[in-house]
Amino acid sequence: MSEIVLRGLRKSFDSVEVIKEFDLTIADGERLVFVGPSGCGKSTLLRMICGIDDISFGRIYIDGVDVTALPAARRGLAMVFQNYALYPHMTVRQNIGFSLRVAGVERTVASERVVEVAQSLHLDHLLERYPRELSGGQRQRVAIGRAIVRQPKAFLFDEPLSNLDAALRAEMRLEVARLHSTYGATMIYVTHDQTEAMTLADRIVVLNQGRIEQIGTPSELYEQPANRFVAEFIGSPRINIVAGRMGPEGMLLMSGADRQLPVAATRDVLAVGIRPEHIRPVETGGHLNCTVRNVEFFGAESFVYADCNMGADIVFRTDGRAPLRPGENCQLLLTLEQMLAFDDGGKTVPLQAVV
Ligand SMILES: Nc1ncnc2c1ncn2[C@@H]1O[C@H](COP(=O)(O)OP(=O)(O)OP(=O)(O)O)[C@@H](O)[C@H]1O
Ligand SMILES: [Mg+2]
Repeated sequence: MSEIVLRGLRKSFDSVEVIKEFDLTIADGERLVFVGPSGCGKSTLLRMICGIDDISFGRIYIDGVDVTALPAARRGLAMVFQNYALYPHMTVRQNIGFSLRVAGVERTVASERVVEVAQSLHLDHLLERYPRELSGGQRQRVAIGRAIVRQPKAFLFDEPLSNLDAALRAEMRLEVARLHSTYGATMIYVTHDQTEAMTLADRIVVLNQGRIEQIGTPSELYEQPANRFVAEFIGSPRINIVAGRMGPEGMLLMSGADRQLPVAATRDVLAVGIRPEHIRPVETGGHLNCTVRNVEFFGAESFVYADCNMGADIVFRTDGRAPLRPGENCQLLLTLEQMLAFDDGGKTVPLQAVV
């Protein structure tokens, strides 16, 4: 269990600065998730923390000890990669126990620890198999087993589940959460997957071009995004963004005809964000008129794409089967208290209801 502190971290590859002045404290036992677009520096950060990549500037502390100059093997961290490579000529037992053997751990102690880890990962009946005789999910669990067997101070996961199919991902997601509560070690987890980020994180760090856009709990990022980038990045389907500005009597949504909504902003606004669950179809008294373009039915819910004469389609969510078909006209009621507004720099602007 460990606190990890990153101070003024920077990383450049030749003349390109990939990580820009990065400061972050990860609490002992915390589950921290990095998300961000491809190429924003997530893997680079993890590799720097782990000690696989050098850092250009800054310092890394683990439990108050400066480890910046320590090689990976002496930092006491375990990393699981997306493309985990198991030793093909070794059984599950040998794969999991390999690092203990290298570290010279006494035979009976090592063998007990391998069995304990295998049990916690439901691999105990597969100990004599070779990697080629395992399913994708089982192989992934062996890779995790190899990481946890050394009882690291922290786990670093770089998209560990992205090679698995949807059902296995869901299963392994729960497995990772369960492992964390069993071992309680600090965990840094990189993912592209919204569900993994929202469900596994105590805090999520949203990265963009090597910088932190926002750090917060999943609900803080979803409900109070600091800016448009975070609002658009967190949430699926994406938040609807519509051009808007403040008028004399409320918010004007830009479309064929301006529509005023009874909300006020403290400063100039350029765009408005409305999440798909904060829009519902109504017979009368709605804020927008629309024509339904497409309906996606998922069983428990449907996503409806509607043309409100605003450029891009508006997407909203209904429970179960949507009572709408493509080509139909209807009105949409917006939950104004939940609406977000952004200024010309993309920063969130607080809104208040006009009474
Ligand atoms: N060895 C390298 N040499 C030069 N540039 C590199 C090197 N490794 C990474 N980069 C660049 O650094 C940036 C960050 O890469 P990184 O792998 O950290 O992104 P990422 O956020 O993990 O992306 P993804 O989600 O696609 O895995 C990218 O622009 C990448 O091209
Ligand atoms: Mg990566």
